[in-house]
Order: sequence, then C-alpha cells, then structure tokens
Amino acid sequence: MQARDNPKTFRVKSFGCQMNVYDGERMGELLAENGMAPAAEGEDADLVVLNTCHIREKAAEKVYSDIGRLAKAGGERAPLIAVAGCVAQAEGEEIMTRAPAVSVVVGPQAYHRLPEMIKQAVRGERATDTDMPANAKFAALGVRRRSGPSAFLTVQEGCDKFCTYCVVPYTRGAEISRPFKDLLAESQRLLEAGAREITLLGQNVNAWRGEDAKGAAIGLDGLIRELDKLPDLQRIRYTTSHPNDVTDGLIAAHGEVAKLMPYLHLPVQSGSDRVLTAMNRSHTARGYLGLIDRFRAARADIAISGDFIVGFPGETEADFAATLQLVDRVGYAQAFSFKYSARPGTPAAAMDAKVPREVMDERLQRLQAALNRDQLAFNRRSVGQSCAVLVERTGKKPGQWLGKSPWLQSVFFEGEAAIGDLVEVELAAAGPNSLAAVLARTGGRLSDRR
Ligand code: SAH
Ligand code: SF4
Ligand code: F3S
Repeated sequence: MQARDNPKTFRVKSFGCQMNVYDGERMGELLAENGMAPAAEGEDADLVVLNTCHIREKAAEKVYSDIGRLAKAGGERAPLIAVAGCVAQAEGEEIMTRAPAVSVVVGPQAYHRLPEMIKQAVRGERATDTDMPANAKFAALGVRRRSGPSAFLTVQEGCDKFCTYCVVPYTRGAEISRPFKDLLAESQRLLEAGAREITLLGQNVNAWRGEDAKGAAIGLDGLIRELDKLPDLQRIRYTTSHPNDVTDGLIAAHGEVAKLMPYLHLPVQSGSDRVLTAMNRSHTARGYLGLIDRFRAARADIAISGDFIVGFPGETEADFAATLQLVDRVGYAQAFSFKYSARPGTPAAAMDAKVPREVMDERLQRLQAALNRDQLAFNRRSVGQSCAVLVERTGKKPGQWLGKSPWLQSVFFEGEAAIGDLVEVELAAAGPNSLAAVLARTGGRLSDRR
C-alpha cells in the first residue's frame, strides 16, 4: 500500500441492527473529534467506513460489492476504505486477502482505535484489530455532543445464548453490561444534547445487570426506574429482549413507570417446540405466550413485536402451522420475519433436512401476509384514540410533521410544532405502515423544546 494524504471528510454507512447503528454514530463522533468532517450529501468522502452486518448471507455478501464499487468509482482518488462491524469481526482476514482496496478492518469491540488505525493506513500500512476487550471501547469513547429527539444507548452487548443458527455470540462476544454510572452520565449528556426519548439497546438487553448509586444490585427494570427520575427524559424504550431474561420486575415496570412506552420486542422465532429445541432457544411456545399474557396483564395496551425465522432445517408444514397459530394468538402490532440463512461455523449450518428455497419463499409469504394483516388491524384499532407523539422530523409534504406514537407507530400530522416536541394528537386514519393524525385543539403541545 502507498502512503496517502490525511482524509478530511468521512462517511459511515451502517447496515445492521440498532446496535450497529449506535456504533456507527459513535464512530462518526470519534472521527469528528479527530478533525474530520462528515461528507456533504451527494459528495464523495475521503474515508468511507462500511459498518457491516453478518446476520444473514445477503447482508454479509453486500460488503464485497460495496468495496468493489467504491474502489472502482474513485479511480485514482478512491477513498480510504475501513470495514467495521460484525463482518469485520467474523471475516477480517478474508477481507484483507479478498479486497486489497480495504485499508482498515476493525471489529465491533475495537472501534475506539479507529483514528490511530487510519493514521497507520495513511502511512501506507494496512491495519486490523478484532480483539474483544470487554467494555474497553466505551471507556475510550468521548462524550455525546449531538442527538436527535430519539437517541440510542447501548447498555448491554454480546450474547451467551448460542441459538444454533446465529452468529452474534461469535461476532459480539460474551454478554457484558455497561456500568450504571456510565449509563447515567451518557443519558444526561444525550438529554443535554437534545434527546427526549432514550432506547436502551442490547443483543439481550434484559440480561443487563448492574449496581445503582448505593451499590444495590439492579436489573434492567431498576435501570429504567433510575432513568425515570431524569426530569428531561420523557420516554424510555428498550430492545431486544430475550424470553429467558424476562423478570417479574420488568413486567411490573410496564404497569408502573409512565415513561416506559407500551411496546415490547420479544422475538420467538418459531411456534413449534420441536423447532425451538433444535434452535436451542430454551423456551417453549407456551412459555412465550405465558409471558405475553403477563405483560398484557401489567399493561393492557402494550404493542407486541417479534422476530421469526422460516425454513429452519427440519421445519415441517406442521411446525410452520404452529408458528401461524402462535401469530394468530398473539396479534403482533409489528414483526420481522426472515428466511433461514445458513451461517458458516454455526451448528445449524451442519444440520440435515434443509428446507428447499421454494418452500421457504412460500412460507415467508404466508407468514408475512398474516403479520401484515395483524399490523394493519392494530393500526386501525388505534384510530380515534388520543395519544402523545414525539416529533422527530418534517414530513414529505410542506407543513407536515412525522413522529412516533407510544406504540412506535409512525404518525403524520400538520400544524404548529417543532422537532423534539411531545404533542397531543388524535389518530385519524390508518395505513399498514403509518397513521395520519390531527393536533389536539388545545394546541397540543405537551412540552417545549429547551
Ligand atoms: N438477540 C436478538 C436478535 C438477534 S438477530 C434475539 O435473540 O432475539 C435479529 C434476528 O435475526 C433474530 O431474532 C432472528 O430472527 C434473525 N436471525 C438471526 N440469525 C439468523 C439466520 N441465520 N437466518 C435468518 N434469520 C436470522
Ligand atoms: Fe442470536 Fe439467539 Fe443470541 Fe439472539 S439470543 S443474539 S438470536 S444467539
Ligand atoms: Fe448484524 Fe452484528 Fe447486529 S451481525 S444484527 S450488526 S450484532
């Protein structure tokens, strides 16, 4: 590799889950603190960080086509390319051999070293770091200076569950919890920077454990109750939860903490116990449904969301029918569904009885039809209700605003408002993916942006 000029502008492209997006934001902040500026929209950047996702084959393969495109389009002035995220962790060496245009490979637990690795690349040496020192990156990151009304905060990382299809335990490492005092400090900074809602993130966010200011052991519900005390914070959300880490305290918090939004993302993956066992989920369909009932008993209007995989090795028509049955029973407000993707190195990749592609396609279509039907039904049932909307941005039409309902629905309305306001609206019409609303006649504003 040849030495090159210091990059002046950068672009971070995030392809993965919300934690990957959080990491992307933090990398951007880090580069800005080191004197680089974000590239203007539509302009080429001197440095491109591809913040990758390894969860399914499609996502992982995308990085190679992106690298090719960047290297080719730039010609002589091709940008410096850094590959970050979970593909970097899983396939760092392969990227370095397969893609000579890549200068830096940095895993999700090492990206605080990005600035020095870029300096190394500028000197003409390629740099790789896929070490996994627990919590080191958070301690090495700077303070939060900018935030929209709705902010992400990673509180927990990693996974010890080892579902047989999943790469996350390998790309993100063992479960760790960030210390309470760091989370309190970062929350305060986010609020000072303009946040009104904080979404607590973790691959298994409800596995978070810590100690409060007095040294008492607390779980996620305790963290939520502590954050509830911050006056400027108006809404708290958390994602993604695992059924096995649900506690009585977390369920109770939904009935008791007004700032905790009535929304629960609790993936189940399949409605068949045979498949759940093969997946090593270590919960049953019945156990899952029992949890949903208890959340609903604590908070009747809670919106339930989930994740599903169709076509796991050995999944029969009867297994799939059990999934559809579970979907009917829960009535999801929202959900994500995927075709099973065999991931290298996972136990499921070596399992027999692969489900043919056409069968997977057909099952995914049927599942999504059911989920879409339920989502629309949920949205239609909301029509006529009054609720608060946190205004996040302007809509496509002039004078239009876009925000989120307590149930995480996208809501459009017109009238007097500003980004960051929490306004009272009446939900007036429902589509599959959003609702139209009118501002309450009182002027609607529940809070002013400071
Ligand atoms: N920790 C979370 C989510 C992790 S990944 C949990 O356990 O629920 C997000 C979703 O991707 C998973 O819930 C699952 O539905 C899907 N997923 C993970 N690995 C997959 C694979 N190999 N093929 C298809 N979908 C997968
Ligand atoms: Fe993957 Fe299972 Fe861990 Fe979720 S709980 S991250 S699906 S191994
Ligand atoms: Fe993808 Fe890594 Fe998130 S594999 S889903 S970016 S934890």
